Amino acid sequence: MDLGLKGRVALVTAASKGIGLGVARVLAAEGMKVAISSRTSSDLEKARVMLEEESGSEVLAVQADMTRRDDLERLVKRTADALGGVDVLAYNSGPPKTGTFADLSYQDWEEATRLLLLSAVTLTGAVVPGMRSRRWGRLVYITSFTLKQPVANLVLSNTVRLGVAGLSKSLSRELAPDGITSNVIVQGFVRSDRMLHIVEERAARSGATVEETYKEMAKTIPLGRYAEPEELGSLVAFIASEKGSYLNGGVFTIDGGYVSSVF
Ligand SMILES: NC(=O)c1ccc[n+]([C@@H]2O[C@H](COP(=O)([O-])OP(=O)(O)OC[C@H]3O[C@@H](n4cnc5c(N)ncnc54)[C@H](OP(=O)(O)O)[C@@H]3O)[C@@H](O)[C@H]2O)c1
Repeated sequence: MDLGLKGRVALVTAASKGIGLGVARVLAAEGMKVAISSRTSSDLEKARVMLEEESGSEVLAVQADMTRRDDLERLVKRTADALGGVDVLAYNSGPPKTGTFADLSYQDWEEATRLLLLSAVTLTGAVVPGMRSRRWGRLVYITSFTLKQPVANLVLSNTVRLGVAGLSKSLSRELAPDGITSNVIVQGFVRSDRMLHIVEERAARSGATVEETYKEMAKTIPLGRYAEPEELGSLVAFIASEKGSYLNGGVFTIDGGYVSSVF
């Protein structure tokens, strides 16, 4: 299937590792020019070289902290200058602090709001004018299954990410006349450093080993395994593609059947 993405420009944030890197791999393999960002330059450069070598596509790496508005505005400007205006925003973020409500301070809430919500607002504000002028754009917000099924120890994720779903739904109505679609991805457990961190925390609480906990958690997923980051990449690619042009205002769950609610 020709997804019609070749030559278009994608910006994938928080993409030196894990989910973001998997998404960038798939988009670069589709022939897109791809900009990636994260905070650690050495990891970012390693990811850039790997992506370019693997795909032959043009890849730009820009250091940017998602909690900093000026970094994100600079990221979009550098992408536009180097690759052309952003056609596809594949929004992914760094993980928030774990903890129950009792564990969290007001500062933790402020930080999580900057990381998980205001970053989406800033990036959207920076890419939409160019999309509008080209009358084509795709906003894809990668969030978490916590949006549908809260997790006890992830209160920041459970709460703040819902704002991104509200943002996406609002944008899907406001921007559709300009040829811009907006959708949300809700992922279950995906093999990554973050996933391992969650497993380690659970193991420490339960007294089981990390290996046992990793296997036990996989058993709670109907498909019996964690997702590979590239499987999220395939979903992003389809939503962003010409074939996916009627997808707008949606929330797409990719979780191996983990979330137990119908909607
Ligand atoms: N993996 C899962 O099972 C799962 C499930 C549901 C939701 N999620 C969510 O999906 C997102 C990605 O998770 P992941 O599993 O891919 O994590 P990961 O493997 O730990 O990768 C996180 C990426 O985000 C970057 N990052 C972290 N904080 C950042 C910041 N403040 N500014 C810019 N970049 C930042 C990291 O690079 P630097 O540290 O160098 O900046 C890295 O590239 C997270 O929000 C996570 O909570 C993950």
